[in-house]
Amino acid sequence: MEETFKGRDVISIEDFSKNEIDFILDKAGEAEHESLKYGDKMKGRIMAPLFFEPSTRTASSFQMAVWQLGGMVMDFDVFSSSVKKGETLKDTARMINGYGADVVVVRHNKDGSSRLVADVISAPVINAGDGKNQHPTQTLLDLYTIKELKGKIDGLKIAMVGDLKYGRTVHSLSSALTNYNGCEIFFVSPEELKMPAEIVKNISSKTEVYEIALDGLEGVIRDADILYMTRIQRERFPEGPEGEQQYKKISLRYRLSKQMLERAKPKEDFRIMHPLPKIDEIEPCIDDTKYAIYFKQAENGLYVRKALLALVAGAENG
Ligand code: NCD
Repeated sequence: MEETFKGRDVISIEDFSKNEIDFILDKAGEAEHESLKYGDKMKGRIMAPLFFEPSTRTASSFQMAVWQLGGMVMDFDVFSSSVKKGETLKDTARMINGYGADVVVVRHNKDGSSRLVADVISAPVINAGDGKNQHPTQTLLDLYTIKELKGKIDGLKIAMVGDLKYGRTVHSLSSALTNYNGCEIFFVSPEELKMPAEIVKNISSKTEVYEIALDGLEGVIRDADILYMTRIQRERFPEGPEGEQQYKKISLRYRLSKQMLERAKPKEDFRIMHPLPKIDEIEPCIDDTKYAIYFKQAENGLYVRKALLALVAGAENG
């Protein structure tokens, strides 16, 4: 199957079939446990990071992945580039392509931005988050984490909680889960931040979906295998005092406390995931419980991105 990935753009999780997703997850397992196999698959190859939005985990794990594969990372910082003078995304991308990047990783606050870049350049483009739309590499690492924990994805009860309206991680993840048999998805959110109706419609045609108000969270915890918490996406609210007020109102109501977990009595192997960064939505003492797996989840980003980069931009016989 390797050859189907070479030079390919990764814009949406829907670009991959279930077999392709499972193949990437297997390769990520090799990257984690048999790293010698990975050697220098990107030797002499260059990744250009076009990050127009802040990023900690995604940017640094992509960077580490390239270095560990023997490749190089172009020193391109949007915030000190001509983008600040008003250069368009298309022009910036064309120029980076002309300099010979072998793979371009894009993060941008506009939905569809990675597609736009992919349409004007020849190098493969990997979407590292486009607005509220998609975050396919996050989804691959989320699936990898779930499989690592539970040994399977089929048949699990997964609750996605928080900002389901603007959160791109949950848009991609819920779509990917429809590939697996017998999953049940719980969307738990404040009324103002519900999963967009179109996505719910799409997913519920293939998978069991329940939409639940935020005050039903405790009941969901009792039943779920995985609680996928998300941050309220402050930066995607309307600008100005109205948006600020809306954000404050919601964020005050949204917090997972240890007390709530104790009351709910979750299953023994219940676990909490979060794409990070987390702000106030998880009481910090939960970090030290067996339930919290978000730091290992973030680490898994390295293995998944190594696997993906090797497949998309690795040496021909790599
Ligand atoms: C997420 C993102 O950028 O969408 N972060 C990440 O890549 N781990 C989640 C978020 O910012 O809330």
